[in-house]
Amino acid sequence: MKKIKVAIIGTGFMGRVHTEALRRLGNIDVVGVAGSSTERARKFADQVFIDRATGDYRELIADPQVDTVHICSPNSLHCEQTMAALMAGKHVLCEKPLASSVDEGRKMLALANEKGVAHCTLYNVRSYPQVQQMRQMRLAGEFGEIRFVQGTYLQDWLLYDTDWNWRIEDGKSRTFADIGTHWCDLAEHVTGLKMTALCADTEIFLSTRKKPTVPVETFKGKELRPAEYTEVPIANEDFVSMTFRMGKTARGSLTACQMAAGRKNRLFLEVYGTRCSAAWTAERPDELWIGHRDRPSEILIKDAVLFEEGARSFADLPGGHSEGYDDTFKQTFRRFYRRVADPGAPVEYPTFEDGIRQLQIVDAVVESSKKHSWLDIA
Ligand SMILES: NC(=O)c1ccc[n+]([C@@H]2O[C@H](COP(=O)([O-])OP(=O)(O)OC[C@H]3O[C@@H](n4cnc5c(N)ncnc54)[C@H](O)[C@@H]3O)[C@@H](O)[C@H]2O)c1
Repeated sequence: MKKIKVAIIGTGFMGRVHTEALRRLGNIDVVGVAGSSTERARKFADQVFIDRATGDYRELIADPQVDTVHICSPNSLHCEQTMAALMAGKHVLCEKPLASSVDEGRKMLALANEKGVAHCTLYNVRSYPQVQQMRQMRLAGEFGEIRFVQGTYLQDWLLYDTDWNWRIEDGKSRTFADIGTHWCDLAEHVTGLKMTALCADTEIFLSTRKKPTVPVETFKGKELRPAEYTEVPIANEDFVSMTFRMGKTARGSLTACQMAAGRKNRLFLEVYGTRCSAAWTAERPDELWIGHRDRPSEILIKDAVLFEEGARSFADLPGGHSEGYDDTFKQTFRRFYRRVADPGAPVEYPTFEDGIRQLQIVDAVVESSKKHSWLDIA
């Protein structure tokens, strides 16, 4: 079988997660990586055994042997790098949020369609087996009519004014664009409903933060010393809470924040229907709580043979053997590369359309909070 050749742009948290997940597929060769400098790219490449490393992503994109490009760089670079890869006729898998604006996202989608290549926005949370089980329960009508969804996305790695990351200076929305959009994509994917209007309240708890004078990668800020900072004003939000409508009857609410001490990655979603409910958190991915009114509620432990048929292929291991965050990338990539190999294969992964959808919700959150009012979502 011919192996598909992949280049990765970005050598941080996602660069590593993508590289490892791609290798687990078996039919992919990660042939090169681009970083913010040749030195940093080389260091990463040596750690994960990739031959080619460069500080200029254009070198990899110009290589005719590269079939697909993974964009794992800061959000404000996604559009420029994706457009360059698409112009060269590559398939593109771009990290979320897709771009810095809806207009950028639309440009990316238009070019991908013009070039006839496969495109994906990495809303990987969809690919947890229990998430697919919830979705299949909805498709089978088990919830009855969905009345409301609610949840949180909480982390704590930006709690202190000494916690720093490029996200703090990248874009009009930080917390919502970074993690709120994961939750909204999940809520829409599971329920099959679209958010039609929202009222959001955002807050910047820290008006200034101490920016390191040396480069720092995601989650690594704890290791710096006081002399390595300068004080800078903050313009994007630390916190968002929002209430929303999903069509005429369904309602929902979300709180997202990266300053919630002790919450490491509490992505939590509850779905309430006229017949039953379900609740799931990424912190305990193997467990799905199913709530009943007239019989005992239950916890379904991940076991593909007990799942609805459509959810089974998202679990590769036998029941009781955990599958988590890394596996969601493998599952998403598997479906994406099936489509790359066979343009007739179904699109069972989030696309640039889904990325644009979330950018529209970002706009509505920012606008609504500014105006202190409800807004319809485009
Ligand atoms: N799907 C998920 O669960 C998930 C999780 C975390 C991050 N992300 C997304 O992944 C992307 C990267 O985030 P991260 O957490 O890995 O950040 P990171 O800071 O760990 O890594 C970003 C990398 O991009 C590199 N970079 C900067 N400028 C570059 C350039 N011009 N060319 C090439 N590389 C450059 C940096 O050196 C760094 O290695 C973001 O869009 C983020 O939103 C997604």
